[in-house]
Amino acid sequence: MVSGTVRPPGDKSISHRVLMLAALARGKSELSGLLTGDDVKSTARVLRQLGAEISPLRESIVRVSHARRTTHDARLYCGNSGTTARLMLGILAGLSGSATLTGDASLRRRPMRRVTEPLKQMGADIKEGGDGLPLTIRGGKLRGLTYASPVASAQVKSAILFAGLTGKVPVTIREPYRSRDHTERLLAHLGLEIHERDGAISLLPSAVSIPAFQISVPGDPSSAAFLVAAAVLADTGELVIENIGVNPTRTGFLVVLERMGAHVERVNLRDEGGEPVADLLVRPAALTGTEVAAAEVPTLVDEVPVLAVLASRARGATVFREVGELRVKESNRLELIAANLRGLGVRAEVQGNDLHVEGTEQPPRGRVDTASDHRLAMSFAVLGTVDGANVKLSEKKSVAISYPGFFTDLKRIRADVQT
Ligand code: S3P
Repeated sequence: MVSGTVRPPGDKSISHRVLMLAALARGKSELSGLLTGDDVKSTARVLRQLGAEISPLRESIVRVSHARRTTHDARLYCGNSGTTARLMLGILAGLSGSATLTGDASLRRRPMRRVTEPLKQMGADIKEGGDGLPLTIRGGKLRGLTYASPVASAQVKSAILFAGLTGKVPVTIREPYRSRDHTERLLAHLGLEIHERDGAISLLPSAVSIPAFQISVPGDPSSAAFLVAAAVLADTGELVIENIGVNPTRTGFLVVLERMGAHVERVNLRDEGGEPVADLLVRPAALTGTEVAAAEVPTLVDEVPVLAVLASRARGATVFREVGELRVKESNRLELIAANLRGLGVRAEVQGNDLHVEGTEQPPRGRVDTASDHRLAMSFAVLGTVDGANVKLSEKKSVAISYPGFFTDLKRIRADVQT
């Protein structure tokens, strides 16, 4: 049984970006609805080290004043946050002085060349030991760039846009498939000259800096996805999930769910700072397996773990095409989704860059290794809510990265939760 109304925390991607833009803006900005999770704390900490004054992170108003335009051999610890590291590299490329970026063991393993390569082409001086952190960047005078990214990555695209912004040079980016477009929407909302032509995004340099702004961050569709999944897997009831961003570059999981047989209604559709926002109405549904195409992956890249969990409860097989990027997320999600599903009695395997999951009616029972990856922990916690399940997670703390109140919310919407 699922019931009630729930309001997941602010969008992680947008929270990082509005903090960074507020730290680059002239004057005092006011941000509300920010995610207060660990990843966003990492961005706030790094910006404070660069001189920005940021009031304590909370969901109500956070005030931000601008950072220095010069860095002084700062050592910036980005924690577990790939978005902090990659987007900050873009910002730092256009500021003078040098900074060294590092992070936790998971972040230090993640590829950075996809960002350092284009930034070096713009003229940034970057000293790196391999394809990862730590690395030292000396920014300053940049030249414009036209770049075709080999990966559909919003972090790569945003790093280049931010370098264009701080370096005051024109940049144009193409990507194989359109990734989340929050940076583009925010820059347009703040009055910058950004446009798209034939799939290429271009930002023209602005002579004046961004004026201070006020913005409200919508709820995170990636966090809402776990509650949507829990509601779909319940036997009866109805759940309302309030104030969720429904930007089409983020809601591929709703499209896939629809194909699988679960219709999620969007009510109260409105606009919040250039982003579409709605309340979601979810009911339990019987699911059927589907094929997720490579072109859809950027629109649901963070939802593959929870969709794989749903696929394990669907009738028939589901295949996720070209999800190799999942190997370089907070953990090797691709292998861990398959191995953990197998450990719970589900047939699942990785073939090349594709993930195959066979649905079953057997209750999932066993232990899950989350590898301290927040999205794995939340996905398998949801699987642990089905009738007869007995799912033991190796840890639960990692949810603090993106959804600190996750277990409280999951318990609240279900009477019979077992995690
Ligand atoms: C993010 C982009 C995605 C996503 C990550 C957040 C962002 O990563 O997986 O959780 O905020 O730009 P990639 O750009 O590496 O695909």
